[in-house]
Amino acid sequence: MVFTPPAALANSGRQYLPTVTDAASPNQHLMPLTAGVNDRDHLEIGGSDVTTLVEQFGSPLYILDERTLRTACRQYRDAFRHYYPGDSLVLYASKAWNCLAVCAIVASEGLGVDVVSGGELYTAVQAGVPAQALYLHGNNKSVDELTLAISTGCTIVVDNWLELHTLVELAAVELTADSPAPNPATIRILLRLTPGIECHTHEYIRTGHLDSKFGFDPDQLDAVFAFIIQHPSLNCVGLHAHIGSQIFELQAHQDLTGVMVQWLRKAAQYGIPVQELDIGGGLGICYTEADDPPSIDQWVQVICEGIVNACAREQVPLPRLISEPGRSLIGSACVTAYTMGSQKTVPGIRTYVTVDGGMSDNPRPITYQSVYRAVVASRMSEPLTESVAIAGKHCESGDIVIKQAMLPTTEPGDILVVMGTGAYNYSMASNYNRLPRPAAVIVNDGEANLILQREVYQDLIRHDCLPERLTKPPA
Ligand code: LLP
Repeated sequence: MVFTPPAALANSGRQYLPTVTDAASPNQHLMPLTAGVNDRDHLEIGGSDVTTLVEQFGSPLYILDERTLRTACRQYRDAFRHYYPGDSLVLYASKAWNCLAVCAIVASEGLGVDVVSGGELYTAVQAGVPAQALYLHGNNKSVDELTLAISTGCTIVVDNWLELHTLVELAAVELTADSPAPNPATIRILLRLTPGIECHTHEYIRTGHLDSKFGFDPDQLDAVFAFIIQHPSLNCVGLHAHIGSQIFELQAHQDLTGVMVQWLRKAAQYGIPVQELDIGGGLGICYTEADDPPSIDQWVQVICEGIVNACAREQVPLPRLISEPGRSLIGSACVTAYTMGSQKTVPGIRTYVTVDGGMSDNPRPITYQSVYRAVVASRMSEPLTESVAIAGKHCESGDIVIKQAMLPTTEPGDILVVMGTGAYNYSMASNYNRLPRPAAVIVNDGEANLILQREVYQDLIRHDCLPERLTKPPA
């Protein structure tokens, strides 16, 4: 295996290569930590040749590196243990990639899981995540979702007044034998508040500013606390805020710690024994060599010191400190391998090279104008001579995976690998143009196992209904 040094994230005329030791913060690398080049000049991840994986499992293919994911989990967990004198819990924000295998891995590393829907909750439960490690979010949870959460025994992060009232009603209702009656004392809730903190990230993934659809306005805190003390069925154990995603500056989270500890003091004034503060997620990752996010360790240190200092200032006991990273746990652990197809040169403008996927397996470029980097897995040491646009195969001009990529000379059949696709790719994937969703494999020490089967055409019509009368000619 050949590794270039960490500073060589910048493209030096060769294709991007990482480096790596377990001390490296995965979110600061373009490639999974185990990426390297083998004797055939092919990209290897987790000890598997990427071109062989595609031969074996088909294309496109999500390739998840177990070691990178586990390393990120351990770094979060260990950093909180190191910097925080109180109890802590890291929840994996599973909206980044929710499936059985990923939930099982993070749980085996001692993390809990944050879910935002009945479907994510169901998956996490099926993966064996224990109820006390599950937190349900959502700004419009249905009665069914709340009922499922109550019967599961997970903590509910309450977002608004309607939800508070619904929970009080649910606690009072005798449920059927299928869904056992909740014991009111077990409705364990956190309150989500909007802290009024701006951060520099895409408008769609900013959530902490006051003009947000999420959470209670802090002005309502008195009214909410007053409501809670009148309703003993609500066991309010904590407060939550999340300010946004793909954030590079540490200041916003530092400010958040101060704001949240003030809320904690207010809860104490109402006699509400709030023991948990959940500061959300948001640490960014490296999608290109221009991205320079703080390390996991630095982010955790700032949060822990902020909470410790603010608690000393406000004279409140240290809460159990909860965090909810998603992207920075899994984003850099996965790449997407595509097979290259047709090419088109528009003279004087650009050359388009195409791949066998696109906005259905990675909707981030078209949704957020996200920029990615790619390498050609079978030509790792060839010089980067072509500036091309990498286009997807969807019937939409905007379906461009990378607007401008530097690649070696390629031909149809080459395997193109896009990096940093672990977060919000599979989880936001669709069947647009009726493309079956790709398979996903997990790689480790030369072993590769399927974690998501490739969809087939039959899957695409599984939920279609064709009423019989439509099959007959009109009378
Ligand atoms: N906690 C809450 C309440 C959240 O809403 C989110 C993300 C997280 C935690 C995890 O944030 P992270 O650590 O991943 O930044 N689809 C967008 C990202 C949406 C993020 C939504 N909330 C994207 O592809 O960039």
